[in-house]
Amino acid sequence: MTDKTYSPSDDFTAGAHIDAAKYDEMYAASIKDPDAFWAEQGKRIDWIKPYTKVKNVSYDFGNVSIKWFEDGELNIAANCIDRHLEARSDQTAIIWEPDSPDEPAKHITYKELHENTCKMANAYKALGVGKGDRVVLYMPMIPEAAYAMLACARIGAIHSIVFAGFSPDALAARVNGSEAKLVITADEAPRGGRNTALKVNADKAFKNVTHDCKMLVVQRTGGDVAMEDGRDHWLHEVQANVSADCPPEPMNAEDPLFILYTSGSTGAPKGVVHTTGGYIVYAAMTHELTFDYHEGDIYWCTADVGWVTGHSYIVYGPLANGATTLMFEGVPTYPDASRFWQVCEKHKVNQFYTAPTAIRALMGQGDDYVNKCDLSDLKVLGTVGEPINPEAWEWYHNIVGGGTVPIVDTWWQTETGGHLMTPLPGAHALKPGSAMKPFFGIEPVVLEPTTGAEIDGNDVEGVLCIRDSWPGQMRTVWGDHERFEKTYFSDYKGYYFTGDGCKRDADGDYWITGRVDDVINVSGHRMGTAEVESALVAHPKVSESAVVGYPHEIKGQGIYCYVTLMGGEEYTDELKVELRNWVRQEIGPIASPDLIQWAPGLPKTRSGKIMRRILRKIAENDYGALGDTSTLADPSVVDDLIENRMNRG
Ligand code: WT7
Repeated sequence: MTDKTYSPSDDFTAGAHIDAAKYDEMYAASIKDPDAFWAEQGKRIDWIKPYTKVKNVSYDFGNVSIKWFEDGELNIAANCIDRHLEARSDQTAIIWEPDSPDEPAKHITYKELHENTCKMANAYKALGVGKGDRVVLYMPMIPEAAYAMLACARIGAIHSIVFAGFSPDALAARVNGSEAKLVITADEAPRGGRNTALKVNADKAFKNVTHDCKMLVVQRTGGDVAMEDGRDHWLHEVQANVSADCPPEPMNAEDPLFILYTSGSTGAPKGVVHTTGGYIVYAAMTHELTFDYHEGDIYWCTADVGWVTGHSYIVYGPLANGATTLMFEGVPTYPDASRFWQVCEKHKVNQFYTAPTAIRALMGQGDDYVNKCDLSDLKVLGTVGEPINPEAWEWYHNIVGGGTVPIVDTWWQTETGGHLMTPLPGAHALKPGSAMKPFFGIEPVVLEPTTGAEIDGNDVEGVLCIRDSWPGQMRTVWGDHERFEKTYFSDYKGYYFTGDGCKRDADGDYWITGRVDDVINVSGHRMGTAEVESALVAHPKVSESAVVGYPHEIKGQGIYCYVTLMGGEEYTDELKVELRNWVRQEIGPIASPDLIQWAPGLPKTRSGKIMRRILRKIAENDYGALGDTSTLADPSVVDDLIENRMNRG
């Protein structure tokens, strides 16, 4: 924590949607009378049938139910496209910047977005997909990914996006989990100058798909791929015979919009379900106010549509606001570390939103890559996904933002649909590393971890819960409402439990301190240590494993694996390489172990529970403070692990 604060300039505040006084007034109103507050905010969206009810929520364990605007009807694609056609049909809706700077960018107008989305929707219908059916997207960052999402919303199908970096096994699990009728993919995905064989991966996944499912393939590179008769269809061929008009389906506010799988502290990833009305109201409002978005601004979020950030802040929020949203296919360091800044210059980007891990990686390449670009159009910078260290914050502020552009450090989760805590750029003096203030309608509470008692006052630390609901909140876990209640509403009764720890400083501002459960955050990607463990023990030579996070300079956290082999197996360096590849294949490259330490024994309690606290300390090189080890079945195991820690690799 640093004591420095950075106030917005008078000019910025004068032009901003929200200044300090307005924030205070609106925040107080949002907490005092949520019904009245959200009844008003709901009007941001066009409703086919207006709502008469606003909030209907119970956090009672065993009976958790979350509904917003429940008798309203709307269509999200109509809100993101059709309602803008009168005033801005020729305005660019999506700027697409390809992986290679030598390939031309595309500018897709709202009129073209309408036509492309309608055609995609009619292609779905031609393949038998309708309201309530699930459609899985396994796509590169190309405009068709946005069309595919909006086309689902248009006909009421539920999309489930699987990040294109995930393995065939992970894809199969998600296709099966939602019994999807259709998977949309592309021949290949160019990224950083290399092509990922997406269709080949999808074919591998389909070997494990247990129900009838079709595949729709977008031609991106023209690479040679195999098509299975009857099952696989080229998008351009199906679209050749469909109409360019598809009326939007009226949806109930609580009809599901999408499923997005995310990692938890136990078990397989869970399908987070977001619904229609509340989600779009919240995404649109947070996009406008957090980024102080104004008419005509060019807005760029560098996330992938495979993550919730891509859902809410590349596609739904910006398009609901009639913005121009930039979609980037590539990576920050290709062809070199100047790419982000060149894209900002080329398209005159006004709001730029990225992850701390990218900032740290680019900071390490030196200032020249930034300084040679003209970044004078930038008005707001944003970060998301993990805590940002003050050093990276200062670099982002001074070098990228020229010392004047405000930074919004947005704290939120897949589950929350949109920002829950963030400074508003015209309202708050910034503190590097702090997510600062709750958004409207959000009431954070800091709890004592063991008793669950609320900790009042300032200068306190504990686990972070939210007292009440907000429209963008997830509604359930796909197919498992019990798991939903247990994960978020059972540890601390009557609150939504975030899984994060936090500090409220002397001024009442919030600092997220990281996860308090067995979830780790690697380069802003969320991962359950249990998932990596189960991938490791699936290897025939592994008998047991324990996975923890450890501090990593660029990634934030790295993946540290303690591995016990089956009796008689040899502990070799070659096997470490093999295990790394194994995990990459089971889950995907983002889950690749950073360090593996052979652990012929793991520290367990007499009842057999692995004491991860100890393993975390050893991974952090902090074995002076191992705490109480008296409940261990065999305390000598710990000494062995400490002694052999240098053999990790
Ligand atoms: C977890 C949620 C929400 C989009 C990306 C991640 C961590 C997220 C911040 C931030 C500190 C952050 C939390 C949270 N996190 N943003 N600004 N400061 N930590 O979504 O994959 O659902 O992960 O990411 O630990 O619980 P996600």
